[in-house]
Amino acid sequence: MRVLGIETSCDETGVALFDTERGLVAEALHSQVDLHAVYGGVVPEIASRDHIRRLLPLIREVLADAGLARADAIAYTAGPGLVGALMVGSGLANGLALAWKCPLIPIHHLEGHLLAPMLESEAPKFPFIALLVSGGHTMLVSVQTLGQYRILGSTLDDAVGEAFDKTAKLLGLGYPGGPALARLAESGNESAYDLPRPMLHKPGADFSFSGLKTAVMLVVRKAEAEGSLEPLKADIAASFQCAAVDTLIARTLKVAAAEGATTIVVAGGVGANKKLRNDLTAKFDGRVFYPRPELCTDNGAMIAIAGALRLASAEDAGAIQARARWSLETLRPPVAA
Ligand code: KG4
Ligand code: ZN
Repeated sequence: MRVLGIETSCDETGVALFDTERGLVAEALHSQVDLHAVYGGVVPEIASRDHIRRLLPLIREVLADAGLARADAIAYTAGPGLVGALMVGSGLANGLALAWKCPLIPIHHLEGHLLAPMLESEAPKFPFIALLVSGGHTMLVSVQTLGQYRILGSTLDDAVGEAFDKTAKLLGLGYPGGPALARLAESGNESAYDLPRPMLHKPGADFSFSGLKTAVMLVVRKAEAEGSLEPLKADIAASFQCAAVDTLIARTLKVAAAEGATTIVVAGGVGANKKLRNDLTAKFDGRVFYPRPELCTDNGAMIAIAGALRLASAEDAGAIQARARWSLETLRPPVAA
């Protein structure tokens, strides 16, 4: 079966074709980052309009690359995300499924992220603990099997990607600044500033990043007032990254130990962060799986593979789904309808 995956939950239009025998055969991605950068964040209406412009050409491109006229099934992101953006993917997926008379599989965006490492040749096996770290989510999830998820901890305020982006903005690194901040941090001293590691002394597995964000803001404001921000930027970036990564790793290791986990999966945009990848692998006494960096951020391939794994619960076209909010814990393993 060749499954077409469509992702339009936020500001990337992602399309991919996953073959249940050959793996990923074609993919295409259009990032809207430049469109939103001038506003310093994603503007939902602009996102929807750009998905409308890009989606069909990207689907044509992926089918042409794979040498196919159609797919055997279609998977699309049904939520959570921006409703207008989701509607574009959902509407087109339903239309195509109607025309092709093929099965349709609505996918939870976060399930897509946490299955992304399965696109790699060395794939993790269930059960595992997943650390989901993106611009919108920071979550530790116990993954028993496909569709059986228990959220062990999540952020009480900002997502970690959001904290990276806000710190990057303070340092004048543009939007979204996570990757630029990580690059700048490579030339900085991560011990230059003693920034808080929020929540580490509290019980449970939740995160909080607003205190860290405020602490960095105070450092930046002081440096600005003294006219010395420019030469200190790399040290501030490195110290922030170190505090954020230390916090993620400490919580993850604690949860993995409590759950007796031998496998950890890291997914979501912040999963592309090199320090997080290197330090977690070094500190965990088990296996850590990461998707390649380009599959950490939003993409169509993760939706296509989730669809391939969920073929058994495919639906017929006609029920356009687009859910702004949707808990991962409400999902169930695939069963034929
Ligand atoms: O998963 P994703 O593409 O979109 C959401 O669903 O949110 O994640 C995007 C987030 C942004 O906040 C971005 O700054 C962050 O991931 N990010 C990074 C890195 N690459 C992307 N943060 C830190 N280090 C990176 N290398
Ligand atoms: Zn995402």
